[in-house]
Amino acid sequence: MHNIRKVTEDIVWIGGNDRRLALFENVFPIPEGVSYNSYLLKDEKTVLLDTADSAIAGQFFENLEAALGGRTLDYVVINHMEPDHAALLADVLRRYPKAVLVGNAKTFTIVSGFFGLDKAKRMTVKEGDSLVCGKHTLYFYFAPMVHWPEVMVTYDAADKVLFSADAFGSFKSLDGNLFNDEVNYERDWLDEARRYYTNIVGKYGTMVQSALKKLSALDISLICPLHGLIWRSDFSFLLEKYDKWSRYEEESRGVVIIYGSIYGHTENAAEVLATMLSEKGVKDVRVYDSSKTHVSTLISEIFRVKNVVLASSTYNAETYTPMKNLVADMKALAVQNKNFAIIENGSWAPYAKTQMTETLSALKNCTFEEVSLTIRSALKEEQLSALETLAQSLADKAKN
Ligand code: FEO
Repeated sequence: MHNIRKVTEDIVWIGGNDRRLALFENVFPIPEGVSYNSYLLKDEKTVLLDTADSAIAGQFFENLEAALGGRTLDYVVINHMEPDHAALLADVLRRYPKAVLVGNAKTFTIVSGFFGLDKAKRMTVKEGDSLVCGKHTLYFYFAPMVHWPEVMVTYDAADKVLFSADAFGSFKSLDGNLFNDEVNYERDWLDEARRYYTNIVGKYGTMVQSALKKLSALDISLICPLHGLIWRSDFSFLLEKYDKWSRYEEESRGVVIIYGSIYGHTENAAEVLATMLSEKGVKDVRVYDSSKTHVSTLISEIFRVKNVVLASSTYNAETYTPMKNLVADMKALAVQNKNFAIIENGSWAPYAKTQMTETLSALKNCTFEEVSLTIRSALKEEQLSALETLAQSLADKAKN
């Protein structure tokens, strides 16, 4: 059965949820699922705005057919060519062969790469170009690297709707509630939205800032992303979050402590430090085991705060593998603007501090605590004063 919902009088949500997929992009766990949003504009012309992942092909085509209500499809706007939104493009054209594909030059390079479709009707748009559909006119604005180079957003001037592609999206399936004011966003959505942003788009903060600046000129009543909720209120909350995330600015004054521990001794140092921080008045101290917590959650947590403690064992003369993976991911995502404290452990030849510091030193606008700690197998009584000094320094920064 089709499962669609009106967004405005002329725009219909025709997407679907995927609760079966274990790993988004085959790497990020999505225990709460994900939605692939797609929209149909019905005016004198009918316009499909992005397709969906092949995992929901059956639901998507039932939805599209129901929303069209017997009409044919005139245009397919391709805001983003990643297969979670574009996998069904060729299938759409098999069913609606007269439909014109609308994209920019980069879009069509990628269309050809995935599908060929060289004989399909194509309308190549440039920045600010428009498509008159009847009473609705769609305008196209480029948002490169949010999240791929071809990404553009589409603005419907009649209903003041921004089809924002991956921007403002989130992990987590839609449970009937489609609009932001139908859920408790801070309680139920914010963490997954942050984990989505930081891991998917996090590397491209500068490009996100450019896109935000460009979009600020538009009069927007609805933001329709390709994943997650549609926003129709409280834009300042959403924009403030995106602004912070893309400037690598902390949301919390708390401290995140992440440890990589083989037999629990490095974990113990992390726990002792956490208690010291709490006793010194630091709120929102969070401790994570890098072996147990997925790296995407750790990245999200690192974005959330400024002060990050990394405590790692040494393993095969390297940083302990899960921590090494985390540090490499931080470099890949170009994490910025953090204050790091480093604790290392090594029973005979500690290397973790040198290696972690070397990689982290390449990150922009980052500082390191003066005090770092080297544990030889287990934390010793005589090291507590150094740990206290570190805790005090972090507490002073966290409470500023
Ligand atoms: Fe949801 Fe970049 O695709």
